[in-house]
Amino acid sequence: MTGLLTGRTAIVTGAATGIGLSIAESFHAHGASVVLADRDVDAAQAAAESLGERAIGVECDVTHEASVQSLVDETLWRSGRLDIYVNNAGITRDASLRKMTPDDFDAVIAVHLRGTWLGVRAASAVMRDAGSGSIINMSSLSGKSGNPGQTNYSAAKAGIVGLTKAAAKELAHKGVRVNAIQPGLIRTAMTAAMPPEVFAEREAAIPMKRAGEPHEVAGVALFLASDLSSYMTGAVLEVGGGRLM
Ligand SMILES: NC(=O)c1ccc[n+]([C@@H]2O[C@H](COP(=O)([O-])OP(=O)(O)OC[C@H]3O[C@@H](n4cnc5c(N)ncnc54)[C@H](O)[C@@H]3O)[C@@H](O)[C@H]2O)c1
Repeated sequence: MTGLLTGRTAIVTGAATGIGLSIAESFHAHGASVVLADRDVDAAQAAAESLGERAIGVECDVTHEASVQSLVDETLWRSGRLDIYVNNAGITRDASLRKMTPDDFDAVIAVHLRGTWLGVRAASAVMRDAGSGSIINMSSLSGKSGNPGQTNYSAAKAGIVGLTKAAAKELAHKGVRVNAIQPGLIRTAMTAAMPPEVFAEREAAIPMKRAGEPHEVAGVALFLASDLSSYMTGAVLEVGGGRLM
């Protein structure tokens, strides 16, 4: 199946690498114009160039209100429309409660929770006027189960679930859908930073007995972005190889 997003415009945050880049690639392959937004603008622009026409890389720090607003404004100026917005940018600052600092907590909450809220607010303002749109928020199975060493990250990812459902209820009657994805263990730079023994232990606990690949999350994002999911809002889709079902 091709062309699920022909003629649509999508913004993907944290799209310079990893899951965000894979989502941008899949939207692009299905005909969308894609804005790859990242705080690492050089990497975002290089990634956009590798996609070719209908893709641009834009600098954005999702924790800053003005930066998120200008991302949406620039997209509208270039494309005249905004159909899909993926809140994907993320960081980790893992540490046990004994070692985690308030800065570690605030930084992770700022990128995931404040960043997602700013993105939902800015994108939905445009989409509700248009009478349609799909917003996709990247949560994590860490927000469902809680991971030791991730009190900041698990709190932020659980918060994204509540934010997704509240926004879905506010926006449903305006034709704007808001859904979330909870990936499990996916092979990216983020998980490459984990101690190998922790990665191996988590992988062994997965019923499918392997970590996932970014494109396996991107396929679910494509489904949520497209009309295939036209009657779904406020849903939280787990992409974890059967982990924590
Ligand atoms: N990899 C996994 O196993 C996994 C599992 C569950 C959820 N997730 C979530 O999926 C998303 C993508 O993860 P990934 O593994 O691809 O990570 P990654 O580290 O490979 O990529 C994250 C991207 O986000 C960008 N970014 C970070 N802070 C930003 C900011 N303030 N503004 C704009 N961009 C910013 C980075 O520059 C980077 O390009 C994250 O939200 C992550 O929490 C990942």
